[in-house]
Amino acid sequence: MSSGFLAPRGTRDVLPPESALWQRLESVFRDLCARFRYEEIRTPVFEDTRLFSRGIGDSTDIVNKEMYTFTDRGGRSLTLRPEGTASVVRAYVQAKLGGPNHLSKFFYVCSIFRYERPQQGRYRQSHQLGVEAIGSPGPDIDAEVIGLNAALYAELGVGELAVHLNTIGCQECRPAYRDRLRHQLRSRLDEFCPDCQRRFETNPLRILDCKVPRCGELSADIPSILDALCPACVAHWDGLRRALDAIDVGYQVDPKLVRGLDYYTRTAFEFKSNAIGSQDSLSGGGRYDGLVELCGGRPTPGIGFAAGIERALMAMERAGAAVAKGTRPSVFVARAGEAARSAALRLMHELREAGIAADTDYFDRGLKAQLRSADSTGAWLALIVGDEEMAEGAVALRDLVSGEQVRVPRAQALDRVRSLLAARNGANRS
Ligand code: HAM
Repeated sequence: MSSGFLAPRGTRDVLPPESALWQRLESVFRDLCARFRYEEIRTPVFEDTRLFSRGIGDSTDIVNKEMYTFTDRGGRSLTLRPEGTASVVRAYVQAKLGGPNHLSKFFYVCSIFRYERPQQGRYRQSHQLGVEAIGSPGPDIDAEVIGLNAALYAELGVGELAVHLNTIGCQECRPAYRDRLRHQLRSRLDEFCPDCQRRFETNPLRILDCKVPRCGELSADIPSILDALCPACVAHWDGLRRALDAIDVGYQVDPKLVRGLDYYTRTAFEFKSNAIGSQDSLSGGGRYDGLVELCGGRPTPGIGFAAGIERALMAMERAGAAVAKGTRPSVFVARAGEAARSAALRLMHELREAGIAADTDYFDRGLKAQLRSADSTGAWLALIVGDEEMAEGAVALRDLVSGEQVRVPRAQALDRVRSLLAARNGANRS
């Protein structure tokens, strides 16, 4: 490498104009959350390592292989958050939120850190939009969360996607299913991949959604968990499907969807796109009815999802929906001559104070070059301040689209700009 620095492996810079797309995506999400009545939560970038090892699960890939863990100068083991849910639940418990019949609805936009092998759509620092609804045990809130996720992608225009839906049971019915799985898989265990052999001991359900094709073939004839649910899980599952039908969210039942975090109970779902390559999961989520208690709170149910921002943008690009309006000035302030320097700066200051996007030339170029640069910024109007105009207490107002130019009294410049912009915006709308 030369003497310059590069962004660390697995990270990337978001530069303009791409950053405008990120802003659009976040603002669509924030607007949607406001309509669904979720409120923003921001938690620290790092937490006590035990929060994640306990919350996400010691046996998961995330905790085993992917965490950015360090000891700080005070000897504490801290970890950069590999996901948002555990932190939100920790904050919920710490602030003593909740109570009987109380539902807390949060949303977040955050970076996450996982030491994974970087590839297209997979980064070591990536970004998520997510929601967590903590407090309601019933299936209607599951449907709301999945519906919000679906509405997000519909409004962003990510193109075709598939909603995979499953239930992975609860403490009542899962242990028996787990035993049955072990019993059925034991005889061919040595044919599975090393990860699955480890999962056999720690969490055999995860074998079902192993991405290694041979493991998929080996577990193809395993009976579905859907046939092993307890009555309460069946009622929840039926209620969820009725609620999804009521709000027009289509889905496909995928009995092999287990997901890679141990806190899930009952509902698990993933939104997949077939347009973004092997990292096809756009978002994922599910119910975590034991997590609040695991984090030291009273037993409280919860459900949420998180959507990868980078992957949403990839899907939008493939669908031709990755268009964002760049920021462009409405008015470009040009000046002719040194004497007009302060007057031009003052004019631009007043425009900006009046809420009008304005820009100027910072290279002491001649008037012609300034107007060329004004054109290239996409500005509609130019205000030109020169010696002659100043002597008359006026400024030149030029329409950069038609090329027409008039002289207006300085005192009326702002009002004229405002009414021209209002007329143009009106015309654009019609
Ligand atoms: P997750 O499935 O681990 O779930 O991540 C959710 C989404 O984050 C993925 O579908 C993907 O779009 C994105 N993502 C994850 N890792 C990376 C990466 N290395 N590079 C790029 N994108 C990535 C969770 O994180 C759970 N906390 C979701 C949840 C919320 N469950 C309940 N509430």
